Amino acid sequence: MCGIFGCILKNGNAAPVIHSSLKRLEYRGYDSVGIATISDGKIFLKKDQGKIDEVHKCINLDDLPGNIGIGHTRWATHGAPLHVNSHPHSDCTGTITVVHNGIIENFGDLKLELQNLGHAFVSKTDTEVIPHLIEEIMKNKLGSSFADAVQEAIKRLEGSFALAAISSYEPDKIVCARNESPLVLGVSDNGVFCASDIPAFLPLTNKVVMINNGELIILTVEGYQIKKIQDNSLVERVPETIEWTAEMAVKQGYPHFMIKEIHEQPEVLRNTLRLQDRYLDLLSTFLDRATEIFLVACGTSYHACLAASYMFSKLSFLPTYPVYASEFIEQYGKSVNIDSTILAVSQSGETADTIAAVTCAQQRAATILSLTNVIGSTLTRVSRVYVGTQAGPEIGVAATKTFTSQLSVLVQLALRLAKKRGKVSQDEIDVLEVQLDKLPDIVDVIVKTQEDKVKQIAHKYANSKVFFFLGRGISTATAFEGRLKLMEIAYVPSIAFPAGESKHGPISLIENGLPVVFVCQKDETHKTVIGNIMEMKARGAKILAIIEEGDNEIKALADDYIEVPKGVPSVLSPIPFAVPLQLLAYYMALEHDCDPDMPRNLAKSVTVK
Ligand code: AGP
Ligand code: GLU
Repeated sequence: MCGIFGCILKNGNAAPVIHSSLKRLEYRGYDSVGIATISDGKIFLKKDQGKIDEVHKCINLDDLPGNIGIGHTRWATHGAPLHVNSHPHSDCTGTITVVHNGIIENFGDLKLELQNLGHAFVSKTDTEVIPHLIEEIMKNKLGSSFADAVQEAIKRLEGSFALAAISSYEPDKIVCARNESPLVLGVSDNGVFCASDIPAFLPLTNKVVMINNGELIILTVEGYQIKKIQDNSLVERVPETIEWTAEMAVKQGYPHFMIKEIHEQPEVLRNTLRLQDRYLDLLSTFLDRATEIFLVACGTSYHACLAASYMFSKLSFLPTYPVYASEFIEQYGKSVNIDSTILAVSQSGETADTIAAVTCAQQRAATILSLTNVIGSTLTRVSRVYVGTQAGPEIGVAATKTFTSQLSVLVQLALRLAKKRGKVSQDEIDVLEVQLDKLPDIVDVIVKTQEDKVKQIAHKYANSKVFFFLGRGISTATAFEGRLKLMEIAYVPSIAFPAGESKHGPISLIENGLPVVFVCQKDETHKTVIGNIMEMKARGAKILAIIEEGDNEIKALADDYIEVPKGVPSVLSPIPFAVPLQLLAYYMALEHDCDPDMPRNLAKSVTVK
């Protein structure tokens, strides 16, 4: 989830404007930065790894000449955060240069094809195929305009992109395009801008043109022309005036990052479906060979591990041990050995407890694998193989989109392993893969249709002093996560148990009116869950059920219910079922006048043990 920016100014140099606009996009990622401008028909380019301020201090990003240019603040998906992988990326001749946000899924095939045609690649990014593809098209179709070549190139790309390209052949324009990744234009008296997001140019203009998927834009000092990529037809769109403050703009009009990040989940889940096959394959090969596997993490990431232990068991017939990282050394430190494999899961990749557990296991010659949202983090550096969760920076302290993205990657890993081990029939795998592809839309439906209802439920139960969260099977993990969210941001003491355990102690707490949240996916646990609901009802509990649409049996028993679209298989259910619980915690925090983005006593990344 990088930030891209481009501008053509009537007066003044572009580089300082690009630099300050990238600073305002830094919340989208900040592992490397780069700017390219054009002056006197020549491209000037500076880039490096590191935060914008650090890089600027070393190489002065402001002194590039010219009134036109593009820039990028990176959040790596393909290739480590190194100078060579920083954007902009150029073709062989250095006459075409591109910044990109997104993932080019078919970059492997395109790279091979272009290498066979003699193109030399310098980076490990997916992005680099774009300038080479444009170069190749311009070489073969002599006389075709830069914009036409970009358009042709884009037609060959699969995946997501917002990109901006410049060329010294046509030094007066920027060509940009969008598919899925965000792109907006800004128009002012002094020029035109393209950016990933409105905050980038908000101090310069509040006149904004939204760009839709499948559109290509030609920016010149005179203004902009929008075309549909597929049929080349022109699109008329006038700028609208945005009345946002700078702070509102960073949150895209949402009052808090947490709710923005909850709403980003459909997009994030789409990105997780574009993981690089070879890393998933490698990880699953290591897991397949392992003698014992520990899933090690803290907090929300631990809940993802807990859910994953059900996924690995059900799909790959592979036992795994989820362990709190803070307990790992005491619990297993002495027994870990060369035959042990650790799959560490961490949003930040910097959590001290997780790093300590991993370091201990590494010293005992265990194999370290990991899943993290931050490529280049400590965890990626100590891992034999890692996979990125592709959620983009998460700013709210409560993990939301990173939880569902971890689950999506873990279930893909379990499916990979299922195939490798031949434990599940191809038909079953096919069904699961189809359902996995539908999850982004399903989560979209939940957010669109259930948010108001959750808000009302939060209001209704705002004065409850204690909450229970119960689930069976894989929903135990979802229930645990629902409890953590409510406790950490709304400060409501909450209890979570596997529903079957409640009768071994916790049920003694139940009294009239105490809300019990049941996570009720439709699988083989359904009948027993109904029994557990009855036990709670008999003691006066209020039942708040998260159910599958049309689950009339539980609807009839519940005091309140929230519906999730039908047909989600059990192993995938934590992804959609977690979403109403995130919303519940968020609206409960608002009921209690708490700031959901900055809960007391907590930090986004816990770097102490
Ligand atoms: C949960 O919302 C977080 N506040 C916290 O529990 C977090 O999941 C935990 O600290 C682990 O962080 P990590 O994923 O960055 O390692
Ligand atoms: N895939 C590109 C890279 O890794 C862009 C990353 C992104 O937009 O998140 O450089």
